[in-house]
Amino acid sequence: MSESRILNAALRGKVVSADEAAAFIKPGDNVGVSGFTGSGHPKEVPQALARLITAASERGETFRVGILTGASTAPELDGELSKVNGVSLRMPFQSDPDCRNRINAGDAWYTDVHLSQSAQNVAWGHYGKLNVALIEVTAILEDGRLVPSSSVGNNPTWLELADKVILEVNASMPAQFEGMHDIYTVALPPHRKPIPLVKSDDRIGEPYLRVDPNKVVAVVETNCLDRDNPFKAPDEDSRKIAGHILEFLQHEVKKGRIPADLLPLQSGVGNIANAVMAGLIDGPFNNLTAYTEVLQDGMLDMLRSGKLVHASSTAVSLSRKAFDDLVANIDEYRKHIILRPQEISNHPEIARRLGVIAMNGILEADIYGNINSTHVLGSKMMNGIGGSGDFARSAYLSIFMTPSLAKGGALSCIVPMVSHVDHTEHDVQVLVTEHGLADLRGLAPRQRAKLIIENCADPKFRPALTDYITRAGKTANGQQTPHLLGEAFDWHLRALRGESM
Ligand code: COA
Repeated sequence: MSESRILNAALRGKVVSADEAAAFIKPGDNVGVSGFTGSGHPKEVPQALARLITAASERGETFRVGILTGASTAPELDGELSKVNGVSLRMPFQSDPDCRNRINAGDAWYTDVHLSQSAQNVAWGHYGKLNVALIEVTAILEDGRLVPSSSVGNNPTWLELADKVILEVNASMPAQFEGMHDIYTVALPPHRKPIPLVKSDDRIGEPYLRVDPNKVVAVVETNCLDRDNPFKAPDEDSRKIAGHILEFLQHEVKKGRIPADLLPLQSGVGNIANAVMAGLIDGPFNNLTAYTEVLQDGMLDMLRSGKLVHASSTAVSLSRKAFDDLVANIDEYRKHIILRPQEISNHPEIARRLGVIAMNGILEADIYGNINSTHVLGSKMMNGIGGSGDFARSAYLSIFMTPSLAKGGALSCIVPMVSHVDHTEHDVQVLVTEHGLADLRGLAPRQRAKLIIENCADPKFRPALTDYITRAGKTANGQQTPHLLGEAFDWHLRALRGESM
């Protein structure tokens, strides 16, 4: 490994092994960790911490920590720490199977919060003291400034708030990441000022993270790639959903409601999001921009094709193949990508100002347009709300998308009443499934229900949904949003019994 990644002499003097660094983390500590959607997370100290936790448990001692991140991490962090039941508190987002199991077993407190608000929540002390910041960086400059890694997330806040700082300097990250980031921090009220960002490619901060060198207790050199975030080729349903969205956007351009180069795109993660990006490559729109939280393979493809001229996000979360392409062509890509703190990439002030087109995946929607993004059958956590709420409420166009069916067709993703609410009907303008798109703007609840059932529900569940709304219309205690409260959740109860909804 090249020594040149740690140019600051004082910090070079603090290089230790991952095991020695992990020993600075004590039972009960809150650890602010880098990492966003499987990128830029520390790779070795978390595994060393898991070993310490195991050793403590073998001695009959309890060793658990709070893990505060940017968003989801990877098996070597969330996975390893969850396997040894070492996480007492987790915020603000996860998607790891072991971590999810701990949360759903009641072993870890999980606070699922809007990503843009997570830094300020910690700064206000809602989680107690932040004892340690454990941050992956690409390099340390001679004057001690830090070149961020493949994600920025909440790192500026963690570095500022923590008593102790541990840095992992990852030589696998391309040195040319230097200059790609734009670090701008937001003061707490009442000292806030307007954020001076009016275009998605505006730079308003500086490319480096700063840390008080006296707080740095350990520096660990690593050489590990980020998680391979595999790119699944879009399936048939995703392609159909993407097709409906592209047709709708063309219609909006024709109506003059959005410009021909659209508005900055925010795209959630996954199959459908990638399908929309693939559709945009072949579509009629040019000079597109993205103001989003994570740049995945689909957006990199769009950058390469020239359709997307700029992407602002807080992380690059790529398949290995796409990461190799990023590294091989980084001098070109870096002209078109800016990575910001998630407080800025997801800031509602900016999403509203830019007029973002937000597109996010969901678990289920109800006939009135309320959305459940997070809880399977009401109680079981899937991943978390992530940035969807940051964007949905402030977007110019708030689009939610899902296949109409789940679990081999047993479950309808359109139900009478969602079993958990992440996005209320007020934040949902467009709902899309493979069957079609419901443009809910300007519609009252009963009008919305008719459109959602006709356009989005799977045909096999349409009669039952229509029957529900018809009977509710006759017997409910009011006609604004008719419901049969005694049977609204019968669909979920049938699913819990293992029956078709
Ligand atoms: N009821 C129960 N389970 C459901 C369901 C429903 N209505 N709809 C989907 N599922 C299950 C699927 O069966 C699948 O389960 P499996 O992993 O056991 O196979 C799982 O949920 C994921 O569904 P999938 O169809 O693969 O969708 P996805 O990868 O597009 O993810 C979300 C969908 C909702 C989980 C995902 O979009 C998410 O976490 N959203 C919230 C965060 C967010 O919006 N972030 C955006 C900013 S990046």
